[in-house]
Amino acid sequence: MIGAEPDVETDGFDPQGAPRLLTEVPGPRSQELWARDAAHHASNSSPAAQWLRLVLRDGQGAVVRDVDGNLFLDFSSGAVVANLGHAPPAVAAALAEEAGRLLHYFDFATPARTAFFEALAPTLPEPLRTFQMYSTGSEAVEAALRLAKSYTKGYEVISFHQAWHGRTLGSMSLMGGFPLKRGYGPFAPGVLHSVNANCYRCPVGLTPDGCEVACAGLVDRVYEQSSEQRLAAVIVEPVQGVGGVIPFPPEFLAHLRRLCDRTGALLIFDEILTGVGRTGPMWAFESSGVVPDVLIAGKGLACGYPVSLIASRREVLDSLPFGQPGAGASTFASGNLACAAGVATLGLLADGAILENGRRVGAVLLGALRQLAERHPLIGDVRGRGMLLALELVSDRATKTPAAPEIARGLLMALAARGVLLAGGGPIVRITPPLVMSERQALAGAALLDDALAEVEASLASG
Ligand SMILES: Cc1ncc(COP(=O)(O)O)c(C=O)c1O
Repeated sequence: MIGAEPDVETDGFDPQGAPRLLTEVPGPRSQELWARDAAHHASNSSPAAQWLRLVLRDGQGAVVRDVDGNLFLDFSSGAVVANLGHAPPAVAAALAEEAGRLLHYFDFATPARTAFFEALAPTLPEPLRTFQMYSTGSEAVEAALRLAKSYTKGYEVISFHQAWHGRTLGSMSLMGGFPLKRGYGPFAPGVLHSVNANCYRCPVGLTPDGCEVACAGLVDRVYEQSSEQRLAAVIVEPVQGVGGVIPFPPEFLAHLRRLCDRTGALLIFDEILTGVGRTGPMWAFESSGVVPDVLIAGKGLACGYPVSLIASRREVLDSLPFGQPGAGASTFASGNLACAAGVATLGLLADGAILENGRRVGAVLLGALRQLAERHPLIGDVRGRGMLLALELVSDRATKTPAAPEIARGLLMALAARGVLLAGGGPIVRITPPLVMSERQALAGAALLDDALAEVEASLASG
């Protein structure tokens, strides 16, 4: 079997357990396999993968194991995907069963797809119960842009500083100023950026008490001053994820709703990262009371099997040219396996217990992180909702100067050496465990983070 390592220690794998390191990190098998893999893989792996050089073998619940038998607590859920933990047996079984039945047929309905739609629809309000499926988030973002142009006949889109929407040309054009974007221009015309509602680094120099969400007014200015008034959409993450875990106040989102109602543009919520319980409710928009015209979902919707979709009203999805036969499709869209994994995922979420655990343990973890901020001057801000949390590292709390990249790297490495895995690698440390993580695991992870922060601060103090 691919990836099987028969002589790896297999006992003691408790999905609710603590980290357990048998070797240094990375261990000898990781080092050997990493070198073989690197001989063929492009050198552009994500920072955490490059720095740690771990080769992962399997995972259960909130624990992943490397090929040396080391057990790590997962504080990232991979790319914020494993919301229900790693390899939930019900999802693995559904995939195996469906794989033996039908691996692919282009765009036809299947029983799995019908079941997926019927399980997904009740999680959404009536105006968001017609779907078009895709495989990746970026693909769905691109489709949402086409849809907005198709329905409104406009061509401009407003998006936000620090937004992350994907790596294809259209989705990247929407993104804020990520360094990853540089060197790929020129980007799609018609995209207008506005300031985000970043309360820690307020773009208009105010504080949240009494600011009356002045940043929202600047979006109107962008529309009035920079657009040709041919707005097709405003696209926003209700909580900016990759850009730094920045929850937008409900009033900010309500303001965007009013702008769209006034101009006829579609309000698109990109919930690829915030959906499927990540911020507490099934969908982040539920906490704001603002319903978008289009919702984009992906990531955790099938526990790691690639799936994404756009949800909207039928009249929007049926508008031409988007609604013409074949125009919404793509080779792997609404694949049978994706639908089967999606049905199993939604089945696991149906009684609300996993969402409730995510809310409860997320609140405990947020409290623990706030306590860390009292002890560690490196932490400038602690924020987030549900299991979408972050620490913002600064070199000086008064000036809020972002911590140097080596510090963020040092923290990630020090934490992994204690058995906790993070993604990212910049000064905003995203903490996004699976929603199934136990309170004991979350507090154990926070205690190890405490140690790791102390180590990094001590090394800074010793120069
Ligand atoms: C909010 C948001 N939109 C879009 C994407 C792109 O998704 P994908 O990487 O599946 O293309 C991401 C990925 O992180 C995301 O967080």
